Amino acid sequence: MLLTRDEMTFDFAGAKLDPARDRELLEWMFNQFLYGEVTGIQVGHWLYDAPDFEAARFLARQSLEEMQHVDNFLRIMAMLGCHPRPAHPAVRFLATGMMGGSWAEHVALEMAQGEGFVLQAFYAVIDTLDHKPSVDILRRAVKQEERHVEFGEQQTAKAIAGKGWLRRRLLGLSLVSMWGVRRLARYMENRLGKDHPVMKHLPAFLAHANVCAELRLRRIGVLDRPLGELSGGRRALLVAEAYGGKLLGGLGWLVTLPLRILPFWPRRKRLTDTYLHDAHVTGFALPAASIPDEAQPQEP
Ligand SMILES: [Fe+2]
Ligand SMILES: [Fe+2]
Repeated sequence: MLLTRDEMTFDFAGAKLDPARDRELLEWMFNQFLYGEVTGIQVGHWLYDAPDFEAARFLARQSLEEMQHVDNFLRIMAMLGCHPRPAHPAVRFLATGMMGGSWAEHVALEMAQGEGFVLQAFYAVIDTLDHKPSVDILRRAVKQEERHVEFGEQQTAKAIAGKGWLRRRLLGLSLVSMWGVRRLARYMENRLGKDHPVMKHLPAFLAHANVCAELRLRRIGVLDRPLGELSGGRRALLVAEAYGGKLLGGLGWLVTLPLRILPFWPRRKRLTDTYLHDAHVTGFALPAASIPDEAQPQEP
């Protein structure tokens, strides 16, 4: 990986998440992670698109690992008395709505950037959760996530070599995913309380996550100067150029856009829509777990 564990670690000053006191908060958090792992089914799409045998083999293995991670979170949630519930719409947008339209977008946005952000959140939970059996499970899973991020970094660098237009497009799209993270941060700040010993660090943690995301973009070569040197207008132009390029690149992306971002838009249901009612998930769930209607995700 282009960033070390140390660089990605945020100092919570010894604050801990308590399984009993923070059960509701942990349930919310683990449900976001659970959804993220279920989106591992999207790896299948990219396996079909893999540029070479080595990449295909990596993805085949990754898909199995993501399915194992689903079980990891279900196991942790059962241990902590947390019920499977729908993920926040911003998480759905980041994990599914931002799904890449090309191999380069997939490896840059979903693997290097997206899984990089999730990895940072996993490190934070490992460092703060006061529940050894859960932390042990997470410690094993992060080894695999680190490899996924590394693969994303390497493949992104390969994809942009000699292609300035692609580098700019990936940068524009990365700025949009950073916006999604900020939206999620605002929601968490408002909902999760500013007096909590761990959650009071959230704004600083997310700022640190953005610093790491920027560092990763620079080390891959997507960003050639500090983000602070790009004016608001230049950033807006990069975003416009990125989405304009997508539009010119094919109407297919435009046609499928509502399918990705509007939960009520009629479309074929995938496991990311139905997993909460799947026998595999309900089999793990605690007795008397009430699962809200999937069509109505929990709102702030
Ligand atoms: Fe995973
Ligand atoms: Fe992963």
